[in-house]
Amino acid sequence: MLTACVGRTDGIRDPLDSLGRNTTMTGGSAPVSQCQKPTGWLGRFILWRMNASHSKLTDWGLRHISRTKQDVILDVGCGGGETIRTLAASSMPAKVYGVDHSEESVAASCRKNVGAIEAGRVEIKLGSVSRLPFADGIFDLVTAVETHIWWPDLPGDMREIRRVLKPGGRLIIIAEVYKGANTMTSRLAEQYAGRTGMVLLTADEHRRLFTDAGYVEVQLVEEDRKGWICGMGRKPSMATGSVPDLGR
Ligand SMILES: C[S@@+](CC[C@H](N)C(=O)[O-])C[C@H]1O[C@@H](n2cnc3c(N)ncnc32)[C@H](O)[C@@H]1O
Repeated sequence: MLTACVGRTDGIRDPLDSLGRNTTMTGGSAPVSQCQKPTGWLGRFILWRMNASHSKLTDWGLRHISRTKQDVILDVGCGGGETIRTLAASSMPAKVYGVDHSEESVAASCRKNVGAIEAGRVEIKLGSVSRLPFADGIFDLVTAVETHIWWPDLPGDMREIRRVLKPGGRLIIIAEVYKGANTMTSRLAEQYAGRTGMVLLTADEHRRLFTDAGYVEVQLVEEDRKGWICGMGRKPSMATGSVPDLGR
């Protein structure tokens, strides 16, 4: 939930802060948003809030994709680790990995999933979506909840995810804001995108993002009332092989 990313501590909420910029305790402005890269006690608080506030969005999005017990899954931008917990608990996949570029997020995800990590069912790594710390072609499914809006190079990052997917593997991205959604949150996000650094795309631009990065069977689902969006695509299987691997 973007409003979890409040920066002010005096009870007055600047709309920009509610979209993710961190106003520091000294009253100055930090350029890096707590939603983009949580740090310190405020980051820990926001991660804790997001675990609860994103669960309905996550459940809605994940309903659009099937999962099996054999799946090896990666959650990119895993934040506080609730999506990893849900994925690991729901279909008992072979293994769930998480990755996040924030040390605070990695620590929070590890705390959230300590039992599954000890059992060898979950593993969480520090790393950027732009250079994933994984070998080529190892995941059946990659999930990304409320994170792609912060990625530094969306077209390249989509190709980097495609690199780590198995042929036939799927990517699902889920977000509570997108360009053109008729909700207050999306309108505010759009209005302040230039200052927060958030990248907002329309539904059609999401579709192009997938196809331009070489995904097939692309599907977009919008939850109009809430302004939620979910995009899905598949890496072509070896057999079809119609889209060349663009690499990075
Ligand atoms: C708004 S939080 C969402 C966290 C979680 N997916 C959820 O739904 O609660 C965005 C997360 O994406 C991570 N993130 C943003 N940009 C990233 C990047 N370039 N590489 C890896 N993680 C990134 C942030 O550190 C943060 O933990």
